[in-house]
Amino acid sequence: MSDLAQRLAGIPRLDIIVPPTPLEHLPRLSDFLARDIFIKRDDFTLLGLGGNKLRKLEYLAADALRQGADTLLTAGAIQSNHVRQTAALAAKLGLHCVALLEQPTGTSGGNYLTNGNRLLLDLFQCEVIACEAITQPVQQLADAALRLEAQGFRPYVIPVGGSNALGSLGYAGCALEIAHQCQGVIQPGAVVVPSGSGGTHAGLAVGLAAVLPETALIGVTVSRRSEQQPLIAGLVAQVREQLSLAPPAAEIILWDEYYAPGYGLPNDEGREAIELPARLEGIVLDRFIPVRPWQG
Ligand SMILES: Cc1ncc(COP(=O)(O)O)c(C=O)c1O
Repeated sequence: MSDLAQRLAGIPRLDIIVPPTPLEHLPRLSDFLARDIFIKRDDFTLLGLGGNKLRKLEYLAADALRQGADTLLTAGAIQSNHVRQTAALAAKLGLHCVALLEQPTGTSGGNYLTNGNRLLLDLFQCEVIACEAITQPVQQLADAALRLEAQGFRPYVIPVGGSNALGSLGYAGCALEIAHQCQGVIQPGAVVVPSGSGGTHAGLAVGLAAVLPETALIGVTVSRRSEQQPLIAGLVAQVREQLSLAPPAAEIILWDEYYAPGYGLPNDEGREAIELPARLEGIVLDRFIPVRPWQG
């Protein structure tokens, strides 16, 4: 067992994902783009329609259960994938789920407000608290936790995106999977990952530095520009500390130019990026961003 695997094995984690998720070669997209492209299918994480948050939630929910919580409390946008996966896991574990939801897109379109992930929250029996905006998530979640405690609940706060040091361990573990799957198949030049709340990026940064040090890690920002660098650097330092690893050396690479006009808002290139793998490989990257502009 590698050193990183040993350190991760010492931290309690629920077993929700069936690992490894496939690492799939995309021949038609590779031909089209004239470079070899593989995709790590973390949409195959099998709970509540899957997604990247479940690797983080395996650690966070284990901690919640250890602390005797009966409620998972989190926050995100109305169409948040993170909130949907948290609510699904709460349902599976028989826990209450409460979500603070904000509306960051300005659309009044019924699909955004009531369909997709928002519809699934009702199905998973998640209690929704509508917020005008989530500008101070830590404070807003702490206030909501106090209100829930006053009602007799034992809430466990899961940060936006599940991205604290503990949650990010899920993607340090994912790096081990990727390295194992690449062995004898490819030496990847780069791993490209969305960089939002940051746990996916930070966890992979720690994990890949240990097991695929020649591979660049590129984060494509989805929700902020200049503040993303210190956010990821801080999380990487915390993850390394949690694993008792020496401070990081690797640089943090961020691509900002794909993020426009704002979080959750589609642009033409984004639509094209959704359409290409769909028409060439039958792969759905996003169910909730329409390929045409929002109506209404
Ligand atoms: C499908 C998907 N992938 C990746 C991300 C980004 O991951 P993270 O929040 O860990 O930065 C998000 C959230 O923004 C997401 O919904």
